[in-house]
Amino acid sequence: MPELTASLIAAALKTTLIGRKIVYFPVLKSTMDTARQQTQEKAAEGTVVIAGEQTGGRGRLKQTWLSPRGNIALSIILYPDITALPYLMMIASLAAAQSIEATTGTKTQIKWPNDILTGGKKVGGILIENEVKGSQAASIIGIGINVDLNVSDYPEIKDTAASLKSARDKTDLRLDIIKSLLTEFDRLYHLLPDGKPIYSAWRDRLSTLGQKVKATAGNHVIEGIAESVDESGALVIRGPDGSLTKVVAGDVTLKRN
Ligand code: BTN
Repeated sequence: MPELTASLIAAALKTTLIGRKIVYFPVLKSTMDTARQQTQEKAAEGTVVIAGEQTGGRGRLKQTWLSPRGNIALSIILYPDITALPYLMMIASLAAAQSIEATTGTKTQIKWPNDILTGGKKVGGILIENEVKGSQAASIIGIGINVDLNVSDYPEIKDTAASLKSARDKTDLRLDIIKSLLTEFDRLYHLLPDGKPIYSAWRDRLSTLGQKVKATAGNHVIEGIAESVDESGALVIRGPDGSLTKVVAGDVTLKRN
């Protein structure tokens, strides 16, 4: 499988901010750590760190993220105003979902808050880590997409994960998805500070609304029907007694039951 390169990715990329600098490493522990180091060295906003494979990929809620060679693992560096923070996970999940649909034709949905699904199974995920100073953040937006992951090799995810299957050459496919992803991310990010269109596009793609759900936050379990999401990204669950509970994305896992 031929290597991706930063110049292949940058070629004909028409974004104005996202991807104005692209750094590619064949192997990294995690693009999150490398991107964070780069913020400490004052990396330009919009810098994208891409790994051919990760040896210590991280997921939300301290989970590991499998990312052997052949898949997409990247982190985007941003320095947004803190008022933009709720929209970053919406932008990232929308850009990931739209890029998969545009390049493969596979219908894609978002499971609240930001799991990317094809055929009801997880094909991609978003991890956002923010460092806040005053009214500004240094945000690392990590995006992982399973492009060539043989999920049946991994018992822990074999029933819940998916990988994009395509007759197309996998390097070309990764390249097309990354370009489409960065282009869509750039377009959505430039809509800010008006977050309304981002929020409504994200809400419209959520597969979760109307479903019976079980949210677990630490020892606390909330069961009910996922009724709505608000503009901060919180999920509103209606319990069997009619009560409404708002759950914030950060520390919650969601199960359908
Ligand atoms: C999740 O769904 O739990 C989030 C997964 C995020 C994975 C990506 S891959 C690129 C970046 N580097 C990491 O170590 N994690 C994120």
